[in-house]
Amino acid sequence: MLSKAQNDLITQTGPGTSGGRFLRSYWQPIATAEEMPVGGAPMPVKIMGEELVLFRDDKDRLGLIGLHCAHRGTDLSYGRVENGGLRCLYHGWLFDINGKCLDQPAEPKDKKFCHKVRQTSYPVQEKGGCIWTYMGDGEAPLIPDFEFLRAAGPNRMTFRIVQNCNWLQGVESSTDPAHTTYLHRLAAGAPSVRSGTNVSLRSMRGDEPPEIDIEHASFGTRIFALHKSPNGRRYLRINNFVFPNAATPSTSTGDAGYQGRWYVPIDDYAHCRFEFIYRYAQPLDKDALRKNRDENVSTADLRHIRRPENRYLQDREEQKRDESFTGMGRYFAAHDAFAIETQGSIQDRTEEHLGSSDVVIIEVRKALFKAIRQMEETGEAPGLLRDPAENQFADFLCISGYIEDHEDGPAFCRRMLGTKAAAE
Ligand SMILES: [Fe+2]
Repeated sequence: MLSKAQNDLITQTGPGTSGGRFLRSYWQPIATAEEMPVGGAPMPVKIMGEELVLFRDDKDRLGLIGLHCAHRGTDLSYGRVENGGLRCLYHGWLFDINGKCLDQPAEPKDKKFCHKVRQTSYPVQEKGGCIWTYMGDGEAPLIPDFEFLRAAGPNRMTFRIVQNCNWLQGVESSTDPAHTTYLHRLAAGAPSVRSGTNVSLRSMRGDEPPEIDIEHASFGTRIFALHKSPNGRRYLRINNFVFPNAATPSTSTGDAGYQGRWYVPIDDYAHCRFEFIYRYAQPLDKDALRKNRDENVSTADLRHIRRPENRYLQDREEQKRDESFTGMGRYFAAHDAFAIETQGSIQDRTEEHLGSSDVVIIEVRKALFKAIRQMEETGEAPGLLRDPAENQFADFLCISGYIEDHEDGPAFCRRMLGTKAAAE
């Protein structure tokens, strides 16, 4: 349980808030590369309450500038891409990718004041199938160089979905290993739609709640969920809280891959979930993934088709037949959206009752409080990547598997990291 002030501190991200200054200290994904192709139209983007427009100029250079024209506020995302910038439709003012005003055609030649006008602008970079921005003060740090971001194109795919609740509820769901036994439970033998495999997770990890443990790592927190498998062995899932607003939950692809997920505030009441789907060994079946997504996510608003307006299309008969725990189909991401959106647009954490299975939730919040405090005391947020040598995360691992009888989670992890290092 948190106090109202604590809950406000880690959920509010608007300009001028501590939580907002904190998240602005790190690069954030704002759009998928697919949404902003060469020659594509400008795209309005809202992030942490700030309205911006992402565009490519006539030389294909990416820019991210304030949405409302500095002249009289008209929406620049409708503007014309020409003459080295983006031109407002109202009076033709022209801004380049750095927000510099290049032209004020409605002003008489001797009365132009371009040099006095500047549109807000933020740097952008492309990485891992996404476009990222840095909205902080001072010199930008590095974008984290995780394997799922730098992998070859055929092995990764990036999606963006919009969820109508505070970003922290997203992070808390992705880092919470206890909920999968319930929320995502499907009839034995039924494949999840996400993995497309015929292996039932339940057959490996059983129905009992896992033993949960955590340890600190260079990138955030490593999370162990140890399940008693019906075959008598112990099945371990390792997933990660990636500081400050991301996670890599293990998925039913087992040791073949996993997802990186960033939860980026649109404002305090909605966020984008960026999914970086990654498989190590073989290329992804992108057509199947795209089809799967289009069946579950509306292309019109990037929200799940199952949503509060239709009560998440809950089917009580499906639930009675025990085909799924929720009666909400087999698409895990929609289950998660249901769980977090119905907590309220900002969960009132003064009213919750955490248990011992919430150890990760407590840890994530602790890390955020500590980091915000450190930023307020020293002026700089912690964990900013400046040195490329530190941007490698050799201790990163996201894997599931049976562990040996003599092993615990950390020992399994060391063994797997050793195998991984030897292979590289
Ligand atoms: Fe989930």
